[in-house]
Amino acid sequence: DFMYSIKGLDDVEEYLRKSLKLQDILIVPGDLDEEALIINELGKTAAKYIKENLKEDYIISLTGGSTVKAVIDNIPKINKFKNITVLPARGGIGKNLETQSNTLAAKFAEKISGNYKLLHVPDNLSDHALEAMLNEKNIKEIVDKIHKTNILVFGIGKAEEMAIKRGVTEKEINELKTKGAVAEAFGYYFNSNGDIVHFTPTIGIRREQLENIDLSIAIAGGKSKAQAILSAELNLNAKVLITDEGAAREIMNIL
Ligand code: G3H
Repeated sequence: DFMYSIKGLDDVEEYLRKSLKLQDILIVPGDLDEEALIINELGKTAAKYIKENLKEDYIISLTGGSTVKAVIDNIPKINKFKNITVLPARGGIGKNLETQSNTLAAKFAEKISGNYKLLHVPDNLSDHALEAMLNEKNIKEIVDKIHKTNILVFGIGKAEEMAIKRGVTEKEINELKTKGAVAEAFGYYFNSNGDIVHFTPTIGIRREQLENIDLSIAIAGGKSKAQAILSAELNLNAKVLITDEGAAREIMNIL
């Protein structure tokens, strides 16, 4: 059996690239669950990949989270572009300003001498409030730009952890559990088959826009995130996955 003959990370990459139909996969050695510093390796690897794929006039959208923060922290100063726009992929989340997509978008733009726009919209809006917001001229302009994203950089979280970060009620957490939610990415919750089982109403990137994005890059590591990464990827089909050995080997076990 092929799986039992796999040893090196190159083989793991090749196996996962084929099974998940990825354009590219980059696996850093180690396991984020065991070594917190692995987050910097993920960040460095992703930052390099993004840098190589930047083009003039591009729109780049980012989600928040500690993993995407590590990517932005590792982006070097770049001066060669005059017109790159960086945007938050969706409305703000949680209480931690440092890892919010708005903060990361502004930081990234500063490093590459680009433009940025911020989206000051909370999570869990009512349909009514959401509609009203979408009719605001400023917000509409940003949302229209987000819909033209060329590179999307996003993190993947474990469903329950993300729900807690978003400050949802215990009742909603139980509902997510009942629905079998295991993964979360930019407001969507997925079950282990990759079906969307819940969506956080907010403004920003939508699932149906993903096919139009030239380069979608998912970044997440740690063995304990393997199921979440696999489930989100089954649905979202990000073209590129940047992960660590711990998650990658565990995804192979689940497949
Ligand atoms: O959407 C998922 C989160 O961005 C993951 O957050 O990178 O802090 O685990 P994290």
